[in-house]
Amino acid sequence: MTRYAPAYRIAPSILSADFARLGQEVADVIEAGADWIHFDVMDNHYVPNLTVGPLVCKAIRPCTKAPIDVHLMVEPVDALVPMFAKAGADWITFHCEASRHIDRTIGLIRECGARPGLVFNPATPLACLEYELDKIDMILLMSVNPGFGGQKFIPGTLAKIRAVRALVERHYEQTGHEVLIEVDGGIKPANIAEVAAAGANVFVAGSAIYGAGDKAGYEREIRAMREAIATRC
Ligand code: DX5
Ligand code: ZN
Repeated sequence: MTRYAPAYRIAPSILSADFARLGQEVADVIEAGADWIHFDVMDNHYVPNLTVGPLVCKAIRPCTKAPIDVHLMVEPVDALVPMFAKAGADWITFHCEASRHIDRTIGLIRECGARPGLVFNPATPLACLEYELDKIDMILLMSVNPGFGGQKFIPGTLAKIRAVRALVERHYEQTGHEVLIEVDGGIKPANIAEVAAAGANVFVAGSAIYGAGDKAGYEREIRAMREAIATRC
């Protein structure tokens, strides 16, 4: 069997995009070299902020062929899963604390035709992975407390990434099932290399990319991120 070594993916978060020009912003960032669109859904209940729902996901779906990675920061979770799957989500991730029946929610995402992922806040233990690793395709580790873009990366996340990397490598050796490791919050060209070296392979970045202003800026930031990863890993 080959070694666990998924390709690196850069996933700009639309949270920091210009919402008045969202379709163009989505197309621009992919043309600038990004791999996925990270779509942050906040409900003013699970997190103290309010963003966008399935209608907006459906509206941006024709703007790119790139995978749309829907990050649900909502509670309860299940009712929104079929709606986002229908709206074109390729990936749907949710926070363990937000679902009463984690296994059922994972199954529902799969049944709806999307790929499921579990999200862990900075202080949330990884306990349920012991039972669910074989059913998910991605683990999203929050490197900030969810709810807002532009926060500072919490350095303690690096140890958690290493622990998850060891788990998914062992799982891959035993089963051949590849689980991606996504990290979200405060990622920039200056710290992405150590996040990659710790074991992550999907990098969410909102303010660092969209904060660069225009397509040329997005391209510059994404290139700087890829170069930083390449020099360190
Ligand atoms: C935080 C969101 C993140 C956030 C990332 O709750 O899930 O996706 O927008 O933004 P930056 O990269 O600015 O921390
Ligand atoms: Zn997110």
